[in-house]
Amino acid sequence: MRPALILVVAFISVLGLGEAQTCTDCFVSSRAAYYPNSDEQGTETGACGFGTFGATINGGDVSAASDLYRDGMGCGACYQVRCTNSAYCSDKGVNVVITDHGSSDRTDFILSRRAFGRMAQTKDAAASLLALGIIDIQYRRVSCSYPGKNITVKIDENSNYPYYLAFVIWYQQGKQDITAVQLCETQNFACKLLDRSYGAVWTTTSPPSGPLSIRMLFSDDDGDETWVVPVNNIPESWKAGETYDTGVQVNV
Ligand SMILES: *[C@@H]1O[C@H](CO)[C@@H](O)[C@H](O)[C@H]1NC(C)=O
Repeated sequence: MRPALILVVAFISVLGLGEAQTCTDCFVSSRAAYYPNSDEQGTETGACGFGTFGATINGGDVSAASDLYRDGMGCGACYQVRCTNSAYCSDKGVNVVITDHGSSDRTDFILSRRAFGRMAQTKDAAASLLALGIIDIQYRRVSCSYPGKNITVKIDENSNYPYYLAFVIWYQQGKQDITAVQLCETQNFACKLLDRSYGAVWTTTSPPSGPLSIRMLFSDDDGDETWVVPVNNIPESWKAGETYDTGVQVNV
C-alpha cells in the first residue's frame, strides 16, 4: 500500500472506533415482552409513581424497564423500540415512556399491549407479534415531546400539608435525566436537597414554608449538568393532589 492510502485507512478505523464508543444514537439489540392483561391505556400503578399521568401519558405507549429503570432515574425517559422480524415489523417501531420497573425472560422492556402491537406493519402483523409474546428488538433513547405542555409539578396524594411534601415531575421533554431536586424558600433562598424516595417521587419531611421554588438538576449523556429554575413557584398553601405549572420546559 502507498503511504497515503495507509494513512486514510488508519484514519477511517480511528473514526470507526470513536463512533462505536460515543454512539449515543445507535440502536442496541435486546428483547421485549408485553403486559398480557394491559388494556389500551397506560397505568396509574407502576413503580415510577406517576399516578394519573401514567394512565394517559403518550397515548398509552408506555413500558416497564429492567436495568434501564436505574433505581427510578429512568422514569419518564423515552425510547424508540422496534422489532427486527422484517415480515411483521415496521422500521420506525414505537416511542414509549418508562413508567414502571420489571423484566421478563431476558427482556429490557415490558411494553403495554398497545405499544407492542404498534411495532407491527399492519393489524394482522400485530396479532402475529402478540402471539409470539417475547420478541427480538432494538432500542435507543430518544427525546420526549409533550406539545403545549410545561414541566408540571404534581403534588402526590400522600402529601400532608405542611409536614410532608411528595411530588412527581410531569411532562419533562428532551432526553436528559433529573439527577437532583432542591426545594428553596423564595424569601431567603435557603434550599433543601430532596430525596428520590422511589420511582420518580421526590419527598421531604418538614418542607420550608412560604411560596416554594424547586430547582431541577438536568444531566445529559456526557455528564454535563444544568440547574433549571422554574418561572412559577409552588404556592405557600400547596395541596395534595394539585398540579402546578412551572412555566418552563426543556427541549434537549
Ligand atoms: C408555559 O409557560 C409559559 C412561560 O411561563 C407560559 O406563558 C405558558 O402559558 C405556559 N404554557 C402552558 C401550556 O401552560
